[in-house]
Amino acid sequence: MLNIVIFGAPGSGKGTQSEFLIEKYELAHISTGDVLRAERDSGSELGKLAESYMSKGQLIPDELMVDILASVYDQKTQKGETKGVIFDGFPRTIPQGEALAEMLEERGQKIAAVVSLDVKEEELITRLINRGKESGRSDDNYETIKARLDVYYNQTSPLKEKYEKEGKLYQIEGLGTKDQIFARISEVIDKVK
Ligand code: AP5
Ligand code: MG
Repeated sequence: MLNIVIFGAPGSGKGTQSEFLIEKYELAHISTGDVLRAERDSGSELGKLAESYMSKGQLIPDELMVDILASVYDQKTQKGETKGVIFDGFPRTIPQGEALAEMLEERGQKIAAVVSLDVKEEELITRLINRGKESGRSDDNYETIKARLDVYYNQTSPLKEKYEKEGKLYQIEGLGTKDQIFARISEVIDKVK
């Protein structure tokens, strides 16, 4: 199976590019943000807890997130119909990165590539403020966007070094049209698949 991590700051285009990837390469998509928002919308206790972090732009605790991820992964792959999985928004901390490697190894799998979308901060903020006008997302407001960016720089971006060392990191220029960026990503996927 082709396991791809799509990596990048809030607003870098992970969700947008995942949509193109699942279509072209017939992959399953795991967006931990979408999983948590669905949980919140269901009104479950887990959803309420998740929303208390999300609305502040903070991360859900690793242990909880890792358990959720493993169960969603098994759910998406159990039928054996998918050619692979895109991880969107996971891992977000070094412990999550380690847990992902371990979880995949236990299942005889590994990460083929980590595709990191590089977009400058000014553009990220513009995109998210614009999306916030319609998205209804509780975290698409200036104050929370700033908090999400801080979390990304402090807790998430150190993962790049880990994947660089493992030879799995592919840095993609994330500015341009959606199609241009997708072409850049496709080049990487075609190389590793
Ligand atoms: P999550 O849902 O993952 O949000 P995020 O990482 O902040 O990223 P976004 O979804 O906002 O951006 P994106 O990169 O997907 O960009 P998109 O394609 O939408 O996480 C939300 C929260 O959940 C976290 O803050 C945390 O609380 C919690 N959480 C999630 N995962 C977790 C984990 N692993 N551990 C702990 N907590 C976790 O694009 C953004 C906008 O830009 C869109 O409007 C799009 O149309 C536009 N756009 C896209 N591409 C382009 C382009 N090329 N040019 C112009 N505009 C573009
Ligand atoms: Mg997203």
